[in-house]
Amino acid sequence: MSKYPYQISSFEDYQRQYKKSVENPEEFWAEIATNFQWKQPWNNVLKWDFRSAKTEWFSGAKLNITENCLDRHVLTQPDTPAIIWEPNNPEDHHRVLTYRELHFKVMQFANALKNHGVKKGDRVCIYMGMIPELAIAVLACARIGAIHSVIFGGFSAQSIADRIQDAQASAVITCDGAFRGNKSIPLKEVIDDALMSCPSVKTVIVCTHTRTPVSMIKGRDFWWEDEIKKVETQGNPYCEAESMDAEDELFILYTSGSTGKPKGVVHSTAGYMVWANYTFVNVFQYQPGQVHFCTADIGWITGHSYIIYGPLSAGATSLMFEGIPTYPDAGRFWDIIEKYKLEILYTAPTAIRSLMGFGDEPLKNRDFSNLKVLGTVGEPINEEAWNWYNEKIGHNNCPIVDTWWQTETGGVLISNLAGVTPAKPTFATYPLPGVQPVLVDENGNEILGNGVSGNLCIKFPWPGIIRTTYGDHERCRTTYFSAYDNLYFTGDGCLRDEDGMYRITGRVDDVLNVSGHRIGTAEVENAINMHAGVVESAVVGYPHDIKGQGIYAYVIYTGTHGDVNLTRQDILATVSRVIGPIAKPDKIQFVSGLPKTRSGKIMRRILRKIAEGEIGNLGDTSTLLDPMIVDEIKEGRL
Ligand code: WT7
Repeated sequence: MSKYPYQISSFEDYQRQYKKSVENPEEFWAEIATNFQWKQPWNNVLKWDFRSAKTEWFSGAKLNITENCLDRHVLTQPDTPAIIWEPNNPEDHHRVLTYRELHFKVMQFANALKNHGVKKGDRVCIYMGMIPELAIAVLACARIGAIHSVIFGGFSAQSIADRIQDAQASAVITCDGAFRGNKSIPLKEVIDDALMSCPSVKTVIVCTHTRTPVSMIKGRDFWWEDEIKKVETQGNPYCEAESMDAEDELFILYTSGSTGKPKGVVHSTAGYMVWANYTFVNVFQYQPGQVHFCTADIGWITGHSYIIYGPLSAGATSLMFEGIPTYPDAGRFWDIIEKYKLEILYTAPTAIRSLMGFGDEPLKNRDFSNLKVLGTVGEPINEEAWNWYNEKIGHNNCPIVDTWWQTETGGVLISNLAGVTPAKPTFATYPLPGVQPVLVDENGNEILGNGVSGNLCIKFPWPGIIRTTYGDHERCRTTYFSAYDNLYFTGDGCLRDEDGMYRITGRVDDVLNVSGHRIGTAEVENAINMHAGVVESAVVGYPHDIKGQGIYAYVIYTGTHGDVNLTRQDILATVSRVIGPIAKPDKIQFVSGLPKTRSGKIMRRILRKIAEGEIGNLGDTSTLLDPMIVDEIKEGRL
């Protein structure tokens, strides 16, 4: 018998569970929820109304997610490694934190936060590198009921300030700096810039890591290490886990949409916990003792759900890697697999494609014999990359799970279950129990049957569904629940094949997916337009061999400063400053005008086609105000 009674064991079992989850969802999830630790049981398993964008799971229940991730495992398996940390520099020492140690450190830091007056419901911004203290900070917030908002280290001071202001965060947890490959990123310096416009922040706690010189403002900035010492002298190492309502907000994670302003996706406590755990246990078919390596950054939802909450709630061993796949060389992932005899590797297609480009040399004489499961996430995987992953890493012996999900979904919605349900290259395949996908046409009519394509919606809530967008529930409703009546709209296009398997074909809105990172075209345009001399811009995606999508910007520029290439560099610097280096366009084409309709709407379809190189077939251009501009743009194509 599996340690997890709800772990699906065969295709027939999957079909049975799926059927039950659709026919009797409340009974289904109530039964699964008994596998967690509650302080008080729920009154209702589910209350929902998509038309007002409201969902509640297990309402009335009380719990703390850290008791589920830590305390209960400390009782049964205190010496099991919870987190194994591999540093950026392979010559530095790795670290292992057992469940006992992690529990202790989380309580210590939770007490440090309490010493600074951080309490239930407060928002805490976390901007750190991939070190164990990041996971400790996240869990310490959850311990005392503070709402964490982790911001990826690649975002600029301006982006951080926007997010801190939106959430009115009262505390920031950061590091002096972070290592990434041969670079070191001055995190505290970026925070200092951000905080100039963030009066809500009263406390900054700084963990030392790179030991880069940093400014420390008296009364506001405190060293992590000093705060821990203070807690130690206070004597009592215990920190009571705050009693949280099932629907209390656990965290905010900002993500891009089709408007210029990122939105704070809010997840709640109980539903998110159940979903992260259930999907982790079933998709990866995790077995006790295995080491799970999710290569994502904790600044993204993948890291939240499959480095921290999913694995830890399951008592698993989660490997956390500070560095990048190509440092010190393109064999780094493979070194890590061998060093820790990993069973599970979960990464992004963009990483696979990039490593594929280094050929077979880095793979020579490798021992991958412990690997059992491979996974991908973040973007559609092309067949070539899938085959390479399967042959060179999996040795045709490891199921590959192609996991489709979103920041808003909390955990995986559509994926094969490793070795249990069938895989099909480039297909996410079947929905998890509890997930009811539908395809709809432009008019919102459901497209029935198999061998069809449409826009992907979900017609019934699953426990991990987004609860609101922070501070603006109406935005949540209009973004996700108003495009189609009574459906959650994903923003993805999708195909359902003859066997009823799903294949995600990519975004149908103005959102780009660059190296698995979500970037709104409007956001990039706003940033470009802030550059002096820029009159207008239009940003579209184009196929990129490694990144999946590249960013192509058409820019009307009237400035006279230096030559064209210098201007390009200046614009890139502006985008870096406003959003962060991850949003820098790959190509900038200067144009004298943009193709617009008579009502002034930019015809992105045409710009997309040109960026993709499909200049022969631009479709209907008869509604254009000035068809001549298209010829100019075609000629100047990069
Ligand atoms: C978007 C969500 C889910 C965590 C990482 C990204 C795309 C995600 C897949 C997949 C094809 C995928 C979708 C989705 N996407 N996984 N397996 N196959 N596309 O989270 O930043 O919220 O982005 O990523 O377009 O909508 P995110």
